[in-house]
Amino acid sequence: MNNHLSENLVGIFDSGIGGLSVLHEIYDMLPFQPLFYIADQIHVPYGKRQMSEIKDFSFAITDFLAAKGARVIVVACNTASAAALKDLRTEYPQLTFVGMEPAVKPATQKTHTGIVGVLATPATFQGKLYHTLVEKFASNVKILTHTCPGLVELIESGETTSQSTKLILQRALLPMIEKGADTIVLGCTHFPFVIPTIKHIVGPNVTVIDPSPAIAKRVSFLLNELDLIKRYPHESCVTFSTTGKPESFKRVIYSLIGTDTSPIPLRWKSGKLTHI
Ligand code: DGL
Repeated sequence: MNNHLSENLVGIFDSGIGGLSVLHEIYDMLPFQPLFYIADQIHVPYGKRQMSEIKDFSFAITDFLAAKGARVIVVACNTASAAALKDLRTEYPQLTFVGMEPAVKPATQKTHTGIVGVLATPATFQGKLYHTLVEKFASNVKILTHTCPGLVELIESGETTSQSTKLILQRALLPMIEKGADTIVLGCTHFPFVIPTIKHIVGPNVTVIDPSPAIAKRVSFLLNELDLIKRYPHESCVTFSTTGKPESFKRVIYSLIGTDTSPIPLRWKSGKLTHI
């Protein structure tokens, strides 16, 4: 990517590769929009960390993306959204944020049994955002939750169909299905990459809700309102970057979304995110 500031640029970040599920949908809808993706892989998983720490990371990443000119930032991580979204909106009124939240509301509209399963990280379940959603929309629905320990790490290493991945998902999902859940909410952006494995476990009668398409629609709507949609081809349209190892990130990007790219290495220095 060239160094010119672009206010058409949409910044997208996650602790790792999870947000690629969101980026992929945004790219499908807005193929000419310049996108800058940050995977904070040196700190993945966020889900086990303190909220204050995740918030600090999210603020520093936002500073980095704003310095690139981004006016719209997609917090493509349920965990970072739980920890920081509200404060980001307050502290950066000049930016527009799109965040993630477990799709509890659509699930309550879809379920016939009145029993919904939610898969998300421990930090997401601790956050106020999740509790507000449940209070607001799920008073007549029974919610079953699971944090799928170890799953984010396996998906990070590209293990979407391995035996260990299947085992973690079986442990989370089978008890939910036995209790009557007919709708499963993916409350972590890493999890859409294991949808085929999930569907194999839960069978054809269970609905699996991936919020990424709805997020892409929201991004498109907001860009349109801000008159920031890029409608014509643009050189180096999508830039991928990581605070982890660019070579392994490159391999995972290719295997998950089929893009052959050379991710830019970033590093943390005194609490700030910088180019190497
Ligand atoms: N992709 C993430 C989410 O949506 C974060 C997973 C993690 O780092 O624990 O919650």
